[in-house]
Amino acid sequence: MQWQFPTPVEHLDGYAWVKSRMSTDTPMAALEFDEEEWDAERILRHQQRYLDGGQTVLITAAQHIDSGTLVAFNELVVGEDRTRPTHQEDTLVLKEHRGHRLGMLVKCAGLKVWHEQIAPESPKAITYNAEENRPMLDINEAIGFVPIAYEGAWKKVLDA
Ligand SMILES: CC(C)(COP(=O)(O)OP(=O)(O)OC[C@H]1O[C@@H](n2cnc3c(N)ncnc32)[C@H](O)[C@@H]1OP(=O)(O)O)[C@@H](O)C(=O)NCCC(=O)NCCS
Repeated sequence: MQWQFPTPVEHLDGYAWVKSRMSTDTPMAALEFDEEEWDAERILRHQQRYLDGGQTVLITAAQHIDSGTLVAFNELVVGEDRTRPTHQEDTLVLKEHRGHRLGMLVKCAGLKVWHEQIAPESPKAITYNAEENRPMLDINEAIGFVPIAYEGAWKKVLDA
């Protein structure tokens, strides 16, 4: 399924749950971010910021038919000027549903509709991955993403 913002109300809770897993399931080198809590209200606030900034967002999700659960998702974003690059934001498959190529499927389905119908004038999509995130890099490389830059990150833990 695909939708542009705002998220249909029947998917808000499911989308909030899969999005919250980005903070627990994504390799972050040794940066170790805190677990994030997402609920329907936070999703709506998050979406409103995109809308207020004139951005276009497409969410592509896979739903497990038997349970109705959203199990995988992908997000694409472009600013008001659609001739600028697209940003490939979150992609995730719930742990218990991995190994069925759902990451590749939601990503490709999103990019296809994006390019054909939503932002055909956007010339490229940019994404970021931790170097140790081989499962995601495998998918990106198979789609045709190529490295253009490397970024370092430093973290300092402040005493309470
Ligand atoms: C990257 C991700 C979407 C891939 O999930 P997926 O589409 O189910 O993966 P695939 O079906 O292509 O899996 C291919 C193989 O890798 C394995 N695999 C997938 N993700 C894995 C992971 N995170 N760690 C170890 N093995 C993984 C699968 O079990 C499968 O093994 P098999 O070939 O022996 O069956 C998923 O790992 C994920 O959601 N990771 C956390 C979120 C994330 O890192 N997002 C990107 C942030 S920028």
